[in-house]
Amino acid sequence: MQAQQIAEDLRGTVAVVTGALRGLGRETAGALAARGAHVVLAGRDQRRGAEAVAELSTPEVAGEVSFEHLDTASMRSAADCADRLTRRLPAVDLVVANAGIMAVPFARSVDGFELQLATNYLGHFVLIERLLPALLAAPRGRVVTVTTSAPVLRPIRWNDPNFDEGDYDPFHAYGQSKSAAVLHAAGLHQRFGEDGLVAVSVAPGVAVTDLGKHLTRDQIKHLMSLVPRDREQRRRMRPRTPAEGAEQIVWAATGEAAAEGSGGFCEDLAVHPRPAEAGGPDSPEQLRELSRRLVATVVGEGVPD
Ligand SMILES: NC(=O)c1ccc[n+]([C@@H]2O[C@H](COP(=O)([O-])OP(=O)(O)OC[C@H]3O[C@@H](n4cnc5c(N)ncnc54)[C@H](OP(=O)(O)O)[C@@H]3O)[C@@H](O)[C@H]2O)c1
Repeated sequence: MQAQQIAEDLRGTVAVVTGALRGLGRETAGALAARGAHVVLAGRDQRRGAEAVAELSTPEVAGEVSFEHLDTASMRSAADCADRLTRRLPAVDLVVANAGIMAVPFARSVDGFELQLATNYLGHFVLIERLLPALLAAPRGRVVTVTTSAPVLRPIRWNDPNFDEGDYDPFHAYGQSKSAAVLHAAGLHQRFGEDGLVAVSVAPGVAVTDLGKHLTRDQIKHLMSLVPRDREQRRRMRPRTPAEGAEQIVWAATGEAAAEGSGGFCEDLAVHPRPAEAGGPDSPEQLRELSRRLVATVVGEGVPD
């Protein structure tokens, strides 16, 4: 990675990383803490959270590491997490919305939403929207939403996002939630870019983690078939280690080039225009309206305008 593209000194900044107890989130949290950031590991298991804090708090790690409970599948948990963070931190410089699940069998969240939509997107929507005052209080707050490569994205099912009526397709549900991640970042840039907020989405490439461990052989074949077989895409699909995948996220989270491309989609250490697969020009605002309507059933008017 070209050194000038990432910030090496993050002392004095606060970064919240969701899904930080394993996989890409854990590697990302470690890399940010090594550069001196105070990293808040947001995760759903208190005991593993304490262990991760202890493991990352080594003498070589310059930054402070702490834990905050967050179950992104629960809108109440996301709202409470944002409120606790706001009480204890005057400003938040960075949120990495990383927690996620992929192509799981149909299930509903505690609030009744399709589980991938809730876990991968709606919980992050509540967390980030409620953290906006803290993000805007930072000199140059940044939001990074972790998404996936364009061929895996799927359109938002505007009239049936929770598969209440249509047949459930686990890959469409995953691709929809990841389109929502792309659109959320784009919408934040549209709304707050002029106030100095940076927001990008990032596709980390194919990293060998637990994400697809539950997939059957046929499902893996199907996933691979979504990606065109040209040389460029094959290069992109080369399996990466979790540390290599996290490098992509850290680049988007700290790099100046990513900041200059605010609103865009990062992949392979570059910012690209928003993939058409995620939706058209009006989709960010349409998604915000849909999300506000959905989460209002749980947190009422708890997401500010
Ligand atoms: N790996 C890839 O090739 C790849 C490619 C494209 C995009 N991504 C995206 O990268 C992100 C990280 O994935 P990964 O590969 O690191 O997968 P992973 O190893 O399975 O890690 C997923 C993380 O998300 C957390 N998580 C899941 N559900 C949660 C919930 N309800 N509340 C809070 N945390 C929750 C997990 O926490 P627990 O430990 O508590 O389960 C874990 O820390 C995901 O958003 C994924 O879609 C990954």
